[in-house]
Amino acid sequence: MDKKYQNRRDFIKHLAMTGSAVALAASPWLGAFGSSAQSVRGANDMVRMAIIGTGSRGCELLRHLLTFSVAQNIRIVALCDNYNPHLLDAVKLCKEKELNPQSYADYRVMIEKEQLDAVIIATPLYCHAQITVDCLQTGLHVFCEKSMARTLEQTKWMYDTHIATNKILQIGHQRLFNPVYLEGMQRIHDGKLGTIGQIRAYWHRNNNWRRSLPNNDLSYERQINWRLYKEYSAGLLTELMSHQIQVANWALQKTPVSVMGTGSIRYWNDGREVNDNIALIYSYDDGTQFVYDSMTSNKKYGLEEQILGSTGTIEFEVNKQYLETPAAAPGIQQLINDVEHGIFDKLPIGGASWVPETAVNYKGENIVDSTNYMDTSLQLEAFTQFVRKGSAPEKILKEGYNASIWTMLGEIAIEKGEKLSMPKEFII
Ligand SMILES: NC(=O)c1ccc[n+]([C@@H]2O[C@H](COP(=O)([O-])OP(=O)(O)OC[C@H]3O[C@@H](n4cnc5c(N)ncnc54)[C@H](O)[C@@H]3O)[C@@H](O)[C@H]2O)c1
Repeated sequence: MDKKYQNRRDFIKHLAMTGSAVALAASPWLGAFGSSAQSVRGANDMVRMAIIGTGSRGCELLRHLLTFSVAQNIRIVALCDNYNPHLLDAVKLCKEKELNPQSYADYRVMIEKEQLDAVIIATPLYCHAQITVDCLQTGLHVFCEKSMARTLEQTKWMYDTHIATNKILQIGHQRLFNPVYLEGMQRIHDGKLGTIGQIRAYWHRNNNWRRSLPNNDLSYERQINWRLYKEYSAGLLTELMSHQIQVANWALQKTPVSVMGTGSIRYWNDGREVNDNIALIYSYDDGTQFVYDSMTSNKKYGLEEQILGSTGTIEFEVNKQYLETPAAAPGIQQLINDVEHGIFDKLPIGGASWVPETAVNYKGENIVDSTNYMDTSLQLEAFTQFVRKGSAPEKILKEGYNASIWTMLGEIAIEKGEKLSMPKEFII
């Protein structure tokens, strides 16, 4: 197994063993790595998996799986996609590893015919629910990509089916397995940032989000560019924000009590139906707010989740923690900093000759040592461990469920121009 990957697993295992009870209650899936140190597994603990939807993300998940499938005794039994070029991409990835899974265009035929323990679903959002429910009802454990489902009702339907069938349903929020987030969340949950007053998050891009069509054939438009049409996706909300509301809920150990928002097609007026520009405010019962925006016509600020506490700040995406009042730099360092920043030039004649302010140079501390996080591999390995065990911590699904419900409520709040709370039939 790749050494960096092994280091990441060991890091999570270490967190699981040393974390406080408070922190472990917030991230109970950490335990998945407690017993996974062994690298050789027996024949009778093989996990037989298939992938449904082998487009961009499905192939990425397959690439990750293939890096540890031998060590973790995972057999990729079958691949399924109803668009043949994407199916062939996945077949090719397997062939490069001398694997020969069966190919299917119809997942119903596949789950009927193949002996499987679990499926990985990476189809467009609008069909997550139907495929998930069919697979759970066939007795399979399911890993389904985020966002969980296209509507509130579908999200609840998936959850209820998971309860009724007693099969695992894990949603693809890989930050739950990211060492930076795990370590940062431990600090937040242990009170190291003081009182969290606000969480600010954003995801900014500068591109049209379009994929090219085979031979420029417009009949493929909705199939390939499903993200741009409301029937299939809520655009920036489901594709991007769903990850970040999940981070906010996880940090606060709560779900919101209300959401309001606005949105528009401001720049990419090209026939798309979803907004290219959104801003929302989620409120929590203790007064904390999650303030969010996303756009696709400016990328200067990229993406971030900023956890703003009374004694410190965390910026997860750049692996940084900042103290509100950092220790003063040693005198000579401070002098160099001040000279470099021309502070003395701005001082009035006869004014103070020394400026103790160094915050401008304070770059914070790294949360973990390196940025090679491999969270997608770690979440798939955890899923495999859960499948082998037959169960997963319920909280992991609740993270995906609540992110999906509040993402959908955000969409409705924008459309209606209203402040909304969670209808009680969706509380779990
Ligand atoms: N976790 C992440 O960071 C992350 C990143 C990217 C995408 N995603 C999620 O992954 C999912 C897929 O996104 P994508 O970018 O790979 O889209 P995509 O369009 O590239 O791939 C989807 C694939 O599903 C196939 N498909 C559609 N209906 C099907 C059906 N009924 N049976 C079998 N195959 C079917 C399509 O032909 C296509 O190949 C989305 O839910 C998306 O939000 C998650």
